[in-house]
Amino acid sequence: AALVQEGGAFEGTGGKIDPRRGLLAVITALFTEAMHEAFPELAGNPNFRRADVAKCGNAVHGDYQCNSPMAIYKAIKATGRPSVLARPQDVAKALIDSLPAKGHEVCAEVSVAGAGFINVRVQGAYLQARVKDILLHGPQAAMARKLRVLVDFSSPNIAKEMHVGHLRSTIIGDSLCRMLEFLGHDVARVNHVGDWGTQFGMLIKYLKEEYPNFMQDPPNITDLTGFYKAAKARFDESPAFKERARVGVVELQAGDPESRAIWKLLCDISRAEFQKVYDRLDVRLEEYGESFYNDRIPAVIEELKAENLLEEDGGAMIMWCGGKHQIPLMVRKSDGGYGYDSTDLAAIRYRLKDLSRDWVIYITDAGQATHFHMIFDAARMAGWVDEEHGRHRLDHVGFGVVQGEDGKRFKTRSGDTVRLVDLLDEAVVRMTASLTQRIEDGKSALSKSEACEAAAALGYGAVKYADLKQNPGTDYQFSYDRMLDTKGDTAIYLLFTCARFHSILRKAEEEKGIDVKALEAGGDVVLEHPTERALALELAQFAEALQQAVLELMPNRLTSYVFFLSARGTDFLEACHVLTHPKRLVLVHATALTIAHCLELLGITPLTKI
Ligand code: ARG
Repeated sequence: AALVQEGGAFEGTGGKIDPRRGLLAVITALFTEAMHEAFPELAGNPNFRRADVAKCGNAVHGDYQCNSPMAIYKAIKATGRPSVLARPQDVAKALIDSLPAKGHEVCAEVSVAGAGFINVRVQGAYLQARVKDILLHGPQAAMARKLRVLVDFSSPNIAKEMHVGHLRSTIIGDSLCRMLEFLGHDVARVNHVGDWGTQFGMLIKYLKEEYPNFMQDPPNITDLTGFYKAAKARFDESPAFKERARVGVVELQAGDPESRAIWKLLCDISRAEFQKVYDRLDVRLEEYGESFYNDRIPAVIEELKAENLLEEDGGAMIMWCGGKHQIPLMVRKSDGGYGYDSTDLAAIRYRLKDLSRDWVIYITDAGQATHFHMIFDAARMAGWVDEEHGRHRLDHVGFGVVQGEDGKRFKTRSGDTVRLVDLLDEAVVRMTASLTQRIEDGKSALSKSEACEAAAALGYGAVKYADLKQNPGTDYQFSYDRMLDTKGDTAIYLLFTCARFHSILRKAEEEKGIDVKALEAGGDVVLEHPTERALALELAQFAEALQQAVLELMPNRLTSYVFFLSARGTDFLEACHVLTHPKRLVLVHATALTIAHCLELLGITPLTKI
């Protein structure tokens, strides 16, 4: 079955090789076919659904290796049937003999090695064809199945400042969406804003008490955070206000028009602030806030109740989601109100059943892992998901904390939490200064006005890349000096490399009169020098890097790919003279396009000049 888990990434070739599926998937499919051909008794065995193929650790031995022979050998032995296969090496030999004929378009030098695995070198002609593909169609990647995906990300809270945690969610979420979209999936980008809940009782009552005329004379509160703090202070010191706030929530939830009007006013103010951040970061989101699910909660509770999944607990309704969780979900509070858990139950049901999403992905700080795993288990118990048959997939990507350079929680010098806008501004300010310096020193091809745009691409790009290159689960230290370094594994280095490749093409046209566009159409690629072959192989590995990033939900797979690609590209430029060699310019062009494309998938604006 085409499991959602893999998006059909490793399905059989179905008789023809589709290069957009990537080398790893194509070679895996070929060896899977060989395996089922040579050992038909394994075809129905779930452990042998597909052959085990991986990139070679050491390029000296080959480009890819198939590790299946040993496991096949053991499985055959275990059946107790007499067999002519004396050693795993014999299995390897049998696999090679059964490789489909078309496999030789892709695989050259297929050989048995060591205790029984198979090394494969990729055909040069196949790599040449992939380089040409890039010029004709751009870098390409696909999976066998188009999925309906929903990514719940960013999701800040109304009346509160977006913090660095929301920045991480926004950056990681946006990049995963870009990758999923590029692979052809149908992606809903959902902003589950915190626009409901108990804090609104407090905010509404405070606003009414401070601005009794708010309807005729709406207050100008652009600083909602300050407003929130003031309301919270009154809430904490006055029991009477606390009680009024509690009533305020009930009134709002009951649909009281005045409360609704104030609620809407507060949401609009916050929304405008959030949008400024999204615009800067070039992130698109659709808002389905917590309030959207409010009316749907009662029916969901009825459904769960009918399934006998709920328990009464001191007036509240709770749901135990299997033995592995220490706490239950709070389905309905003892005062009848709905909270975070109730909303997420209604939301996951809506996404799976009403929106028919195959794959739902949540991106929040790792601290919320338990919450989401309880929600997932609840959905399983309620029968809303079918993971066994590979119909659905649910994921929580929990990311680590952003720390200051001292390894403590990220704060400003005065100890306040860092405002996102300030943080982004600072990165751009620093890049503007360094670009201006380059222009003054005569080291840059940019005009003063181009420098502005470039500084934004560099500054925002640096912040995004520093985040994306981490394994999402780990904490990381925020350091301008490191992320703005021109040499390390940074967006700055990659944007410089991207611009360098593009400027070679410009030079070839302007100074050598070479028609680069014409090369695209007919261009021959030669892969003579080892650095050329290594670069072409790396280019051909774009699809699998992208698939891996998506299937593992780790954008850092793509950042390391583009970093290696840039390094291979630089090796090639250092070893080979390219400017007057049209055949090599084709490779330069394919590299320029692929680096730029990877940057775009990471949400970074590529530069062609610097
Ligand atoms: N508003 C929450 C926060 O700031 C994140 C919401 C994530 N999405 C969800 N469906 N619960 O932490």
